[in-house]
Amino acid sequence: MLLKEYMFISLAAVTLTQAIPWHVKCPDVCVCEVKPWFTPRSMYREAPTVDCNDFLMTQVPANLPEETQTLLLQSNRIAKIKPEELEHLVNLTELDLSQNSFSRIEDFTLKNMLNLLVLHLEENQLTELSAGCFSGLTNLQELYLNHNQLITISPTAFSGLESLLRLHLNSNKLRTIGSEWFEPIPSLEILTIGENAVETIQNMNFKSLINLRSLVLSGMSLKEISDHAFEGLENLESISFYDNKLPKVPKMALRKVPDLKFLDLNKNPIQRIQQGDFTDMLHLKELGINNMEELISIDKFALDNLPELTKLEVTNNPKLSYIHPSAFRLVPQMETLMLNNNALSALYRKTIESLSKLQEISIHSNPIRCDCVIRWVNTNENHIRFIEPQSTFCMDPPEFKSQNLRDVPFREMTDRCLPLISTETFPSHLDAAVSDSLSLHCRAFAEPDPEIYWVTPSGDRLQADSTSDKYRVQPEGTLEMFNITINEAGLYTCVAHNLVGADTKSVTVRVSGFYPDDNESIQLYAPEVEAHHILLSWIITSNIIASNVTWSSTTSNSSLNSVFTARVPAGVHKYNLTHLEPFTEYALCVHVSYVQLHNKISCIRIRTKEANLATGTSEIRVQSLITLTVCVLFVAASVLSLRGLMSTGQRVQVKQRSLATCVQKNLPASMNGIYPPFLKHWEATNNLGKTIAVEVQSTPLGPSPASCCEGN
Ligand SMILES: *[C@@H]1O[C@H](CO)[C@@H](O)[C@H](O)[C@H]1NC(C)=O
Ligand SMILES: *[C@@H]1O[C@H](CO)[C@@H](O)[C@H](O)[C@H]1NC(C)=O
Ligand SMILES: *[C@@H]1O[C@H](CO)[C@@H](O)[C@H](O)[C@H]1NC(C)=O
Ligand SMILES: *[C@@H]1O[C@H](CO)[C@@H](O)[C@H](O)[C@H]1NC(C)=O
Ligand SMILES: *[C@@H]1O[C@H](CO)[C@@H](O)[C@H](O)[C@H]1NC(C)=O
Ligand SMILES: *[C@@H]1O[C@H](CO)[C@@H](O)[C@H](O)[C@H]1NC(C)=O
Repeated sequence: MLLKEYMFISLAAVTLTQAIPWHVKCPDVCVCEVKPWFTPRSMYREAPTVDCNDFLMTQVPANLPEETQTLLLQSNRIAKIKPEELEHLVNLTELDLSQNSFSRIEDFTLKNMLNLLVLHLEENQLTELSAGCFSGLTNLQELYLNHNQLITISPTAFSGLESLLRLHLNSNKLRTIGSEWFEPIPSLEILTIGENAVETIQNMNFKSLINLRSLVLSGMSLKEISDHAFEGLENLESISFYDNKLPKVPKMALRKVPDLKFLDLNKNPIQRIQQGDFTDMLHLKELGINNMEELISIDKFALDNLPELTKLEVTNNPKLSYIHPSAFRLVPQMETLMLNNNALSALYRKTIESLSKLQEISIHSNPIRCDCVIRWVNTNENHIRFIEPQSTFCMDPPEFKSQNLRDVPFREMTDRCLPLISTETFPSHLDAAVSDSLSLHCRAFAEPDPEIYWVTPSGDRLQADSTSDKYRVQPEGTLEMFNITINEAGLYTCVAHNLVGADTKSVTVRVSGFYPDDNESIQLYAPEVEAHHILLSWIITSNIIASNVTWSSTTSNSSLNSVFTARVPAGVHKYNLTHLEPFTEYALCVHVSYVQLHNKISCIRIRTKEANLATGTSEIRVQSLITLTVCVLFVAASVLSLRGLMSTGQRVQVKQRSLATCVQKNLPASMNGIYPPFLKHWEATNNLGKTIAVEVQSTPLGPSPASCCEGN
């Protein structure tokens, strides 16, 4: 950005001031004029200029006027310059030899050109810079070596250039950046070294550049920046990482540049901006996070304590689907927020409200869902200016498609809405290799804020902050998988839910080509069979949303011959059927809803054991207990609530009832003592060892839930 400013100044000046004639004996073909000229420090001069550009000359023309200050020899075929050819030009300040045929720096010798300030050698064929090759140019301020074929630079190549302010080494064939190169040039203010195939920046790489203000590292193949890479760059104000391969914000390295004002991270494969990525950068004014093909989410506290940040540009990120309501914390000066051309379906009011000085915002060219989350745009109390409001359209819901955001009757809408999982954040198929790690980012906008959990191929439910040696789910909804084996292959489903409902999205993960049998078999077995209970267990090879367990006696008489149903959350693979009749055959079935939205049922028949009379006394008569289960109960377990049970877009009712009271009310007085085990009956344990409450529904004979739990 600094560079741009400088360029602007000199361009403007050139166009404003006219060249004046210079009456001198001018070499044939060249043009001699006095032209306005600026030093690299932007000091104005009127420079006698000899312009011999574009003549395919193979050597420097003879008889150059000795007053020449600027000599332009661009686009010729000069491959060699001898000292005596230019040594009479004692006042030469700028020499342009760009686009010529130099291939060896030894063929270019200028000795004691004490007035030379600017030297252009860009677009030649130089491959190597030897030791001290510029010595004698003691006052040189700007050196262009970009667009050559430089592979090797001697550690002392720049020695003698003690006044050098700007060095352009971009677009060469460098594989590393030597820290010794910079030791002789501590005055350097601008270094452009992009477009070289350098993968890492070593620690202390620029340590001697204490005056450097702008560093351009664009278009390299940077994958990593060492934590101490920028140590010593105490005056650095601007840095560009444009177009690199950085998978993360180099946050540790950036902490070493306390004066940084402008940061360009555009075009890097960064997936998330996370807490700590931009924190305590006390002088940062402008930040660019544009053109990131992989960027998905700006997470909680992603920008934290940036007291001078006034402008944030986050545009043209085709997968950017989510900005956390608390993405910005302590960013008091932000005035301009550019969020156009992303995949954002909404933006939380809270995100905007956290920016008290915000003046303008652009959200056009996003697939905006015109429902409750984005309602605030119409009650825009902060008088924020929308940039290009005429091209800010709704994508959803269908009735408002293509309508301008300004014209949507938000006031008539409810302030709650279903979560919708962003489609761009993770693919529906993914190939991993054994021992890889993987992150799957699930994000959804909704009002209220949704909660997100994942269901693994074995049906385990992974909540936020639950960790195992294989999985971790972060609160934002990212599922991390570590050290993948073929056991982790299968279908993973993200569920986002709030009071209103839920949305799901799945991804098949193939591991080194392996994908588990997708026959969707349900294997039922009964690891515990007693007189009064059967523990039913099942293995499901595919990913499911929910399952129901039903059981009925195959032999009982009419009144007892009812079918009981228990609804079991995804992740539960066991169900303890209690209060059964002894020595009775039961048909036990598991009904499963697959993520792919079809159902399957699997049943077994098992006979309970004969009653053991010794223990039978306290067990009470089974018959009456079974009538009890007829009662339809909605169990709301506080945290592990059943909101997660529902399938796409359905509303699930959760009634906050006390099960104990409910049960007690409907029990015959004589049975009061047994309800704790009965309570237990409605719990199951999933593979993570968590107890999950189970919702019980619909039996043919039972009273309605209302009457069962009424007056509670
Ligand atoms: C070089 O510049 C100096 C200072 O401006 C001037 O006095 C001198 O005449 C110039 N020399 C030539 C050869 O033009
Ligand atoms: C990954 O799993 C393999 C096989 O289970 C094990 O040998 C290895 O130590 C694990 N590596 C890590 C980093 O957990
Ligand atoms: C599905 O099951 C059948 C029979 O058990 C088996 O032959 C077949 O290979 C299975 N399909 C897949 C895709 O594994
Ligand atoms: C069913 O009822 C009949 C008579 O009503 C009785 O004889 C029979 O034992 C009962 N069967 C079971 C399994 O309870
Ligand atoms: C199943 O329930 C019965 C009766 O409440 C109990 O005795 C048994 O221990 C339970 N089994 C499991 C595995 O929870
Ligand atoms: C489970 O039971 C509920 C309520 O009876 C029903 O809506 C749902 O479709 C059932 N699910 C399966 C997989 O059978």
